[in-house]
This record gives sequence, structure tokens and C-alpha cells, in this order.
Amino acid sequence: MRMTGNTIFITGGGSGIGQALASAFHAKGNKVIIGGRRKAQLEETVKAHPGMESCEIDVRDPDSIKAAANWLILHHPQLDVLINNAGIMKADQTGGVMDDELTVATIETNLLGPIRLTSALIEHLKAQPEATIVNVSSGLAFTPLAFTAVYSATKAAIHSWTMSLRVRLRGSSVRVLELAPPWVRTDLMGGRDEPRAMPLDMFIDETMDRLAFGVDEILVDRVRPLRDNAGPNELAFVETFNDQMAH
Ligand SMILES: NC(=O)c1ccc[n+]([C@@H]2O[C@H](COP(=O)([O-])OP(=O)(O)OC[C@H]3O[C@@H](n4cnc5c(N)ncnc54)[C@H](OP(=O)(O)O)[C@@H]3O)[C@@H](O)[C@H]2O)c1
Repeated sequence: MRMTGNTIFITGGGSGIGQALASAFHAKGNKVIIGGRRKAQLEETVKAHPGMESCEIDVRDPDSIKAAANWLILHHPQLDVLINNAGIMKADQTGGVMDDELTVATIETNLLGPIRLTSALIEHLKAQPEATIVNVSSGLAFTPLAFTAVYSATKAAIHSWTMSLRVRLRGSSVRVLELAPPWVRTDLMGGRDEPRAMPLDMFIDETMDRLAFGVDEILVDRVRPLRDNAGPNELAFVETFNDQMAH
């Protein structure tokens, strides 16, 4: 994608990967607007990046999505990049009795949120001479972690939906990218100090390079084994992966 001169809305921009991507795009001179629920997180991020703006949004709430989209179109008519990054990841009880509230929250945040927000902005994006949608999935879209089965399923769905979106937007001005991170050191599941996870700054550097390169799927080297898993031996790979993660 074009790396400068964009007006970018990124959900979940007040922490973790979203915040680091917002910062990297801001440093390149793009206009960046960050979205999320926690006002204090958003304000702190904006304060550290003069010129950045924020927009409160709860991607679980269709009315909040509509209000944010209307605000963006009104105040930032040049908006040409949407990064669907907000997400939650929790352990679930797959194989036993499920916590319905958690299941619904995960699907609403990780799957319905991006679908609804994209829908609210798509006609605006199509009217731009050049636009980009980046959907953040996960290596777990391709190799599920049974411990977070519903989360993994939402990310597999994001991968599937992203491919459909790409097909449906062929010939339009909108390019559709998928960013599938490996395990990265953020607060998601309390992994900020996890040595097995990729340091956030390394992940962002590699991701920004890949984004500039012009591929549809943004895959850092570390996520390749998970991405390349699909095939006749998929289940054996998934089992081995889950055994490794259980220790
Ligand atoms: N870290 C990893 O290992 C990893 C690996 C693969 C994929 N990912 C994906 O990367 C994305 C970013 O995760 P992260 O690691 O940066 O974790 P994070 O620091 O916990 O960030 C998640 C962000 O999502 C926002 N969010 C959550 N629920 C929301 C809602 N209902 N409405 C609006 N915003 C909401 C949060 O902001 P508020 O709480 O303020 O709303 C937060 O800023 C997620 O989609 C995640 O699934 C992460």
C-alpha cells in the first residue's frame, strides 16, 4: 500500500499493535485517527503524537459504529484507509459448557465489528481514488489454538471474509489486505513480557516493510509456519502445535 499521504482510521489504536501501527504511520506523515472504548488510552496516545486524533467507538455496538463512521466522513472526508485491528482474546471452555457472554463478546468484537464498520465506510472508501482496508487476523486463523477456540474461529472467519471482500472489490479503487500477526508482546492475554512472543517493535518494523511491498497478506517470517499449515496433514499439525502450547 501507499505508505504516506493517507488518512487512516485504526480501531484499537490506544494500545498494543494498533497503537504501534498508528505511531509508525504517524511518523511517516499520515493523518491518523485512532479508535477504541477507553478514552484515557486514546487521549494519552494522541498527546504523544501531535496531529493525531481520536474517535471513541465500541465495535460491539452498531449505533456506535454508525456514529463513528458519520463523524469520520464529516470531519475527515479524505479518509482512505481503514485498519480493522480491535480485538479481544480470552481462554474459553470449548469441550465443556461455554460462557455465552464471552462467546458473544468475542464474535461481536472480532467478527461483527469489522464487518459492520467496513459496511459503514465502504461507499466512502470506494469514492476515493485509492483506498485500503487492512483486516487484522492472526496466525491462529490458520492453525487454531484450542485453548482460545472461539477467538481462533473468529480469526479464521476474518480470513475467509477478507478473501470474499477482496473478490467483491476487484476492479474498484479499494485494495484489501490481511495482516496476520504471530504471537506478539502486547496486553492481549497478558503477554506483554512473554519471551516466546515477538517483540512489538520488531513486529511493527517487519510489518511496515511488508505493507510497503504490495502483497495482499502481510506475514512476518515468524507466522509463516502457522499460515502454511493448511493441507492434508492439517489436523496432525494442529495437534502438535496445541501440545507445544500446553507446556
Ligand atoms: N498480540 C498478539 O499476539 C496478536 C496475535 C495475532 C493477532 N492479534 C490481533 O491484533 C489485534 C490487536 O491486538 P493487541 O495484541 O494489540 O491487543 P491489545 O493491546 O489488547 O489491543 C486490543 C485493542 O482492541 C480494542 N478493543 C477491544 N474491544 C473493543 C471494542 N469493543 N470496541 C473498540 N475497540 C475495542 C482495545 O481498546 P479498548 O479496550 O480501549 O476499546 C485495544 O486497544 C487484535 O485483533 C488481535 O486479535 C494479536
